[in-house]
Amino acid sequence: MSLFRKKTLASLLAQAEEGEKGLKRTLNAGNLIALGIGAIIGAGLFVRTAAAAGQHAGPAVTISFIVAAIGCAFAGLCYAEFASMIPIAGSAYTYAYATMGELIAWIIGWALILEYALGAATVSISWSEYLNILVGKTIPYEWCHSPFESLQDANGVMHHGIMNIPALFILLMLSVLLIKGTQESARVNMIIVIIKVAIVLVFIAIGWGFINSANHTPFFIPEDAKPAILPDGSEYSYSNFFRHGWGGVLTGAGIVFFAFIGFDAVSTTAQEAKNPKKDMPVGILGSLLICTILYILFSYVLTGVAPYTDFVKSGKEASVAYAIQTYMTNYGWLAKLVSFAILLGFSSVILVMLMGQSRVFYTMSCDGLLPKIFSDLHPKFRTPYKSNIVLFVFVGLFAAFVPVNVAGDLTSIGTLFAFVLVCLGIMIMRKTEPTIKRPFKTPMVPLVPILGMLVCTAMIVGLPNETLASALVWMIIGLIIYFGYSKKHSRVGAAAGEILPSASDFEKK
Ligand code: ALA
Repeated sequence: MSLFRKKTLASLLAQAEEGEKGLKRTLNAGNLIALGIGAIIGAGLFVRTAAAAGQHAGPAVTISFIVAAIGCAFAGLCYAEFASMIPIAGSAYTYAYATMGELIAWIIGWALILEYALGAATVSISWSEYLNILVGKTIPYEWCHSPFESLQDANGVMHHGIMNIPALFILLMLSVLLIKGTQESARVNMIIVIIKVAIVLVFIAIGWGFINSANHTPFFIPEDAKPAILPDGSEYSYSNFFRHGWGGVLTGAGIVFFAFIGFDAVSTTAQEAKNPKKDMPVGILGSLLICTILYILFSYVLTGVAPYTDFVKSGKEASVAYAIQTYMTNYGWLAKLVSFAILLGFSSVILVMLMGQSRVFYTMSCDGLLPKIFSDLHPKFRTPYKSNIVLFVFVGLFAAFVPVNVAGDLTSIGTLFAFVLVCLGIMIMRKTEPTIKRPFKTPMVPLVPILGMLVCTAMIVGLPNETLASALVWMIIGLIIYFGYSKKHSRVGAAAGEILPSASDFEKK
C-alpha cells in the first residue's frame, strides 16, 4: 500500500467543478484581497513591531519588515501559481497531495492546524486582553485568564484564572457568522478591513508630523548602544550579536514574520472564488503587497515618534497607544481609535483563520482522511457548519484554558513548514505536469522556490528549541492518527483498489 499515492490533476480539476453540491462561488477579487488583509494585519503589526524594535532591531525594524516580506513574496508567488492552477479549498494540503503524495499531504494538513486553528486561538486570547485594556481593566482577572495564570494585585491578593470568557465569546460570534455564509462573512470582513486600514493610514499621516529625526539616528542599533533600563531596574544590553546591527535586523524579521501570516489563507477559499484562475493571484499577491507597504510606513513612523528603547521598558502590548499618548500631545483620541482598530483587526484575523481551517478540513474529509462530519454542508447556507461547530469547541477549549505564550511560535512554524513544501511542490509540478495550463506562472523557477525554501527554513531553525520540540510532538500525534484512521479510509487508496471500501464509505458524497 503506497504512502505516496497521489491525487491526479484530472480528479482535482473535476472536484473544483463540483457545482451545486459543493461550496458556493461567491467571492470576487476585491473580497479576496480583503480576506488577505483581514488575516494579515493583526497582532504582528500592533504588538510585535514594538517588541522587535525595542529588543533587536531599533528603527531598522523597517528593514526587518522588508526582509520578512521578501521571504513571504517567494512563497506567495508559488502559492499564486498553485491556487490559480488547482482552485480547491485545501490549499497547501491539496498541492502536496498532487505533487508529493498522501503522507506528505497529511503532514502538511496537520501542520496547517497549527497555523489556522492555533492561530485563531492565540489571537482570540490577545483579543480578550485588548478588550480588557479598552474597558479599563474592569473584567475580573478570573474570567479573562486561563487556569494556568495567576497574578498578585497591588493589595497582595492572589488572583487565579478560571476561564477566558471574552476569548470564547469572540470565537462563538465569528463561528456563527461563518456558518451563516461565506458571502456574509466576507462582507463583515470587508467592513472591518476598511476601518482598520483607515486607522492605520491616519496614524501614519498624523504620526509623520511627530517623527523626531534623532530617534532614527543611527538607524541600526550600534554595538555599543547604551543599555535600556527595564521596569525592575535591571539593564537590557544590546551587545549580543542578535541585538544590534544586521544580526538584530534578521532576528527582528523572524519576530515580525508573524505579521505576514495569513496571505496564504486566501488560497483556502479558492473553491468559493468566482473566477479563481485570475483572482487568486490578485488576492494573494495584492494583499501581501498592500500590507508590506503599510507595515514599512507604520514601523518607520512608530520608531520615529518614540525612541526604540522605550519599547523595552514601557508600553509592551499597548505600545502604539503608549507612543501616541506619550509623544503626540492632544491626540489621545487617536490612541483610543488605534486600540479599537486593534480589536477589529484581531477579529478579522480570527475570522479568516477559522474559515481557512474549516476549508482545509473540508477537503481532507472529502478525501476520506478525516471523518465525513467535516465535509457536511448546511442544506441552506452551503457552509461546512458541523466543521465550524467542532472547530469552535476545539479552538474554544484552547483559548479558554491555555495561556497565550505557548501558541504564537507554533503558529509560525506550521506556516513556515507549509511555505517550504509549497515551494518544493512548484518545482516538482513543473517536472511532472510541464504542459498543464498555468493561468499564473511563478517567475524564475527554480530560483524563486529555492530562495523561498531557504529563507523559510532559516526562519524555522531560528525558532526556539521548545517550539521545535512541541511541533515534533504534534507531528507524532498526527502520524498516529494517519496510520490509525486516515490511511485506511483514503478515497484515493480505495479508488486504487488498495483498500476495501467500508459500508460508511458508500455513504460519502
Ligand atoms: N498576521 C496575523 C497577525 O498579525 C496572524 O495577527
